[in-house]
Amino acid sequence: MPKITFTDSSGHATAVDATVGDSVMETAVRNGVPEIVAECGGSLSCATCHVIVDATDFAGLPEMSEMEDEMLYGTSEDRVETSRLCCQIKVTEDMDLHVTTPETQV
Ligand code: FES
Repeated sequence: MPKITFTDSSGHATAVDATVGDSVMETAVRNGVPEIVAECGGSLSCATCHVIVDATDFAGLPEMSEMEDEMLYGTSEDRVETSRLCCQIKVTEDMDLHVTTPETQV
């Protein structure tokens, strides 16, 4: 089963089982993961689902769209090299993804 581990800004990690086809944002919201606001519900218009992907996992993700790349300049906490908007990351069969959530999303 796919697994996503969310580490919050204070270093507390929460590992949750995920469903193939859901987004990482949907997985976070369903499991009450703090620090994921997801105001727009996944329509790529809010940038409040910012996560920093573990560097080793980042390379294995599909490339982000131009729109996601642009939206990442509007995050509350500055983007870093491995930043993504997690509503744009689809859960896949053998996913074992590690992400850190920023302290603020708005
Ligand atoms: Fe709004 Fe991801 S939930 S951009």
